[in-house]
Amino acid sequence: MQQPKYFIGLMSGTSADGVDAALIKSSNHEIQLIDFISTELPTQLKQSLLKLNANPNIHLEEFCSLHKKVADSFISATQALLSQNTIKIEKITAIGSHGQTIYHAPDLPMTLQIGHPAFIAKNTGITTVADFRVDDMALGGQGAPFAPAFHKALFSQENPCFVVNIGGIANVSCLPGKQDNQKIIGWDTGPGNSLMDEVCHTELNIPYDPSGKNARQGNIHNKLLNEMLKHPYFLANYPKSTGRDTFHAKWVKTLLSNLNIEMSAIDLLATLCELTALSIAQQIKSVKYSSKDMLPLKVWVVGGGAYNDYLLERLQLHLKSYSVASSQLIDINPSAVEAMMCAWLAEQRLNNKPVELASVTGAKRNAVLGGTWHP
Ligand SMILES: Nc1ncnc2c1ncn2[C@@H]1O[C@H](COP(=O)(O)OP(=O)(O)O)[C@@H](O)[C@H]1O
Ligand SMILES: [Mg+2]
Repeated sequence: MQQPKYFIGLMSGTSADGVDAALIKSSNHEIQLIDFISTELPTQLKQSLLKLNANPNIHLEEFCSLHKKVADSFISATQALLSQNTIKIEKITAIGSHGQTIYHAPDLPMTLQIGHPAFIAKNTGITTVADFRVDDMALGGQGAPFAPAFHKALFSQENPCFVVNIGGIANVSCLPGKQDNQKIIGWDTGPGNSLMDEVCHTELNIPYDPSGKNARQGNIHNKLLNEMLKHPYFLANYPKSTGRDTFHAKWVKTLLSNLNIEMSAIDLLATLCELTALSIAQQIKSVKYSSKDMLPLKVWVVGGGAYNDYLLERLQLHLKSYSVASSQLIDINPSAVEAMMCAWLAEQRLNNKPVELASVTGAKRNAVLGGTWHP
């Protein structure tokens, strides 16, 4: 029997809502979450990062400063995780750090995550693996989404199933059953919480809509919804990935002004919530399987969107023949999945194991992902 190994995963997603840190135990291909913490980003840093989504122009000095500040936040998150746990640092094999994406351009092709791993390794004293996405892009892949390969491992008891991660952007994994010889597929479906969060922030002075209670009170504006659904991204086939530089508040504002629509913040929130639910549902329903019996009918939701009860209700309504639920129902913490993935990616890297993503991202082959920084 293989000795269990411990890894820490660090993640800050497109929502820039905070740094998530997960401690996992890995033994015999089983992954167990031991501890988890979500730490806030300093307000100023969060604002600077969100500003970059709408306007990705930056002075090199500011860029370098952000690179270091994000690393500092990742170091603090690691320290907070370690201080609430009794595990000794020597027991931890490595950290897997995703960093903060500030630019993602598969057509270029280039993707940029900041929070330099050298600072993380030297300040925590733990080997740090990072820069996972660019390896996939160098092989012609989208560099995203990466979650499907990890979802396959984490949800192995549930396959076949869909896993939908609703962060700032939403992505879906379609996981075949054990006897099924289909490959895993997955792609970004478009906006998750990001457009709703922006309305909450600017119009309601709250960071997000708790449980979707505000959206629930609004009326869906069908004309706006149908216009938004015409965005070419929704209609494109996978492999595909997107970011907040494509789906942002300015895009919504322009549509509102072109269509001459005036509406309340609550109605806008309801319409944006419906956009997220409907775009995910339509793309799940578009998956073709060679045999109908193999089609996954369970949809597990992870990411912060799993706490939006109204969004989940709308998703279930549009996916009538499927069963939609938060992964909490099977004891998988929806908030921790992405950080757990980063820990798992570090383990794959140290074992020089290619990650099964070519069928998802369109890369020429499965690749060993990430570089290693020593303490
Ligand atoms: N209780 C809740 N009710 C509704 N939405 C929530 C709740 N908790 C978190 N969220 C949403 O989840 C988002 C964060 O999700 P997360 O998975 O961390 O995204 P990312 O990976 O983009 O950082 C928040 O910005 C918010 O929109
Ligand atoms: Mg987050």
